[in-house]
Amino acid sequence: MDRRPIGVFDSGLGGLTAVKMLSKVLPCEDIIYFGDTGRVPYGGRSRETIMKYAGEDIAFLRSFDIKAVLAACGTVSTNGLEKVAEDSDVPVWGVVGAAAREAVRMTKNGTIGIIGTKASISSGAYDRAIAALLPGAVTAKAACPLFVPLVEAGKTGRDDPVLRLVAEEYLAPVRDAGVDTLILGCTHYPIIAETIADIMGPEVSLIDPGSASAREIAEYLRENGLVNEEGGSRRYFVSDSPEAFSESARLFLGGELMGEVMKVSLEEMQR
Ligand code: DGL
Repeated sequence: MDRRPIGVFDSGLGGLTAVKMLSKVLPCEDIIYFGDTGRVPYGGRSRETIMKYAGEDIAFLRSFDIKAVLAACGTVSTNGLEKVAEDSDVPVWGVVGAAAREAVRMTKNGTIGIIGTKASISSGAYDRAIAALLPGAVTAKAACPLFVPLVEAGKTGRDDPVLRLVAEEYLAPVRDAGVDTLILGCTHYPIIAETIADIMGPEVSLIDPGSASAREIAEYLRENGLVNEEGGSRRYFVSDSPEAFSESARLFLGGELMGEVMKVSLEEMQR
């Protein structure tokens, strides 16, 4: 048993969807979450900036004695995280590998869709991961930059007309490419999965990378005898208002935060 906490970070609140799944599969782990709410969104930024922020986010989490890091952010995971992971002496997971493995397991026709932020889609990270697992697989992808602000504005209802209109516009080309599996490559998209499913059709399997990664982490900890059986605490840190984080967290977590939220100064993180 290893009682050290797991560190999870995201550009903002979206990574709480991964915390939700971690809590389900590893109920007795202590989790320290960092949401970079002072600098969100990452999805339209350059790779260089994304990696700079990710390095600072990880360094902050490493100031605690943690046993592993999960970069729950799709944008960070697709933009060079493997380099940071190589230099780290604790395991650092992104969400790409687990999601690609699940997509390859689910697809029957070898045509896989990927949606995400602009930075995630232009990185080509999912295409490379899928090609390595299933040579000859075809991918169809779309950047969906308006999904994040729509979710954050509460436009998440299955039949919300604005969300429907935007989703139809983004998803039609991916659907028409004949995908039978779609990777929801951004933390916010599982929240609008019902609308996405309605547009894609019932035969298309939707993959939630945060959940897929949480399940793989659980497997890894179990296989290596590292599961905590006595914890279950939560501590949340944000780089902007803790109140705003607490108010919106329920949407992503599907329940109460069950832990204190504290503000971290970005100036201190950058020192
Ligand atoms: N967390 C980001 C992602 O999963 C979405 C929000 C952002 O653009 O920072 O890609």
